[in-house]
Parts: sequence; structure tokens; C-alpha cells
Amino acid sequence: MTALSATAPGKIILFGEHAVVYGQPAIAVPVSIVQARAVISAIPAAPNGQVRLIAPDIHLDSLIDELPDDHPLVLAILLTAGHLGAQRLPAMQVHLSSSIPLAGGFGSSAATAIAIIRAVSAFLGRPLSNDIVSELAYRVERRQHGNPSGIDNTVVAFEQPVYFVRGQPFETLIAARPFTLVIGDSGVQSSTAAVVADVQRLHQADPESIDRAFTAIGDIVRQARGYIQAGMIDNLGELMNHNQRLLKELTISSPELDLLVEAALANGAMGAKLSGGGRGGNMIALVSPQTASRVERALIAAGAVHTWITTVAPILGPT
Ligand code: PMV
Repeated sequence: MTALSATAPGKIILFGEHAVVYGQPAIAVPVSIVQARAVISAIPAAPNGQVRLIAPDIHLDSLIDELPDDHPLVLAILLTAGHLGAQRLPAMQVHLSSSIPLAGGFGSSAATAIAIIRAVSAFLGRPLSNDIVSELAYRVERRQHGNPSGIDNTVVAFEQPVYFVRGQPFETLIAARPFTLVIGDSGVQSSTAAVVADVQRLHQADPESIDRAFTAIGDIVRQARGYIQAGMIDNLGELMNHNQRLLKELTISSPELDLLVEAALANGAMGAKLSGGGRGGNMIALVSPQTASRVERALIAAGAVHTWITTVAPILGPT
């Protein structure tokens, strides 16, 4: 067998993070400027079932027998083999590399699981559909995050902008006009599971006011969907600012993210908000192609450790 590789993109959430865990809609888009890649090759002369997992980004180089079964990368391999009814795995080496910052709101855990699931199933000669890949990745995410909505595995597996409601088939979101975002990484690593658990505690303590905030976020997401579909991109900025104010009220922002959001707005961005789990990780700013580099420079000056420019382009429909 020859070496086989599979990739999966990162993602950003445009609107609706956290509220999506409680049944509100959210909008996410894939960003292929950052990617996870799994390369699989046979290990010559090794007995069946010897699977060596190498992930230099996290300083991992072990046989999977030496790792716990619920290690997310091991779980991705075992769930794939289990789904395909493979009694024994062929001897293989799984090499994982990723340009996706960890714990930063780019969905790195979903992307690494998906790259592995795709590569392992292809290596076993039975590549899986996006639906199944997404479902298996959701099971890996559940083990890691406790209560994920499913938006990360969906947008990463299908690689298209999605309007997502938990437990429902997703909608492909078709942008009538392209728009440009600057992504700024605060450099602060933050555990999505911990923030989701904190929000759950807030919700338990005061369900009425937290539900009000979630409902307001849901309204923002529905309006944003309409503006994206109609190409009314200028209207998205204020919605991002409103979403950010609500996330701040829910304690999901952080001083570092607030600084970046303010710097983007002061330098010509039409709107800005955190993206993903919050308390660290990424923020996004809606810019015109003319203001993009000025906003990037302002973000770096305000403490961002990295910036990216990405364009959400119209797509023709499901592929
Ligand atoms: O931090 P990320 O990129 O994994 O985004 C998480 C999005 C949340 O809404 C906070 C959680 C979820 O499962 O939807």
C-alpha cells in the first residue's frame, strides 16, 4: 500500500457561538488558509494492529496501544475502523501535521479528527461520505468537549459555509457577494470545554436572562443569513458588533480580545467580534479589501500574535 493523505480546513464562526449549544442557529465558514493534514503509510514488516501515531505539533510519537483509548486521535482511528467493521488494523504509520493554532477558535480538534478519519478510511480502501465523517468526528468532539453543538465537525467535514441548528440538517449558505475578513489571533489559548461549562453554570444560575441573550443572538444570526444571501454585506458589521456586546455580557470575551476588537473598529473595520469558544483564541473583523492591511497592522500593534485575511466567496451550492 502506498502513502495516502487527507486534509481538513480550519473554520471560523461568523455569528452565534455558544448560543448554538442551546438550540439557536449559528453561521460558520471553512478557512483553508489553515489546515490539518494526515498522511498514512504502511509500516513494513510490522505485525497487524501496530499503529504508530506521530504528531510533531503536540510532541507525540507512540504506538496507539501505548495511548489511552479515549485519546482523541486514537479515538478517531478506532471509531473509523469500528465503523468499517475492520477487526484488525493493518500496520500503519499515521503522521499528523497542522497549521491550525491549537485551542484558538479555529476548530483544530474537529479538523485533526476529520483528516485522520478520511485518511484511515481511504487507507482501508473504503473512503467515507462527508455525512459519516462528520458523525464520527462529532463522537470524537463529544469525548473532548462534553457538549459540542456539532457545528465544528459539520463545517469542517462539508467545507462550505453553513447555517447550522443543532440536531437539524445544516443549510449551505450561499453568499450573493464575496466579503473579506481579517482574523486576529490573541495568542491566548483557551479551552472551549471550560468556557462552555462556565456558560452552563451561568445559565443554571439565571436561565431567564441568559436565554434572553441567546434569543437575541439567534435573531442576529437569522438577520445575518438574510444579509449574506442578499449580498447586503455592509449591514453585517453592526450585527457583528451587537453579537460581540452580547458575548461580552455573557463573560465570553476577554481583555485581550476586547483590545483587538476596538483596534479593528478604530482602523476602519465595519464590525468585529470574537470567534469560537472565546476568552482567548481568535477575533474576526469585517473589512473592505482597501482597509484589510491597515486593520491587520492595527491588530498586531494591539497584541495579536498572528493575522490572516480570508474571503468568504459565493459558492454554487453543495458539492
Ligand atoms: O472554540 P471552537 O472553535 O471549537 O468553537 C466552539 C463553538 C461553541 O459554540 C462555543 C461550542 C459548540 O460546540 O458549538
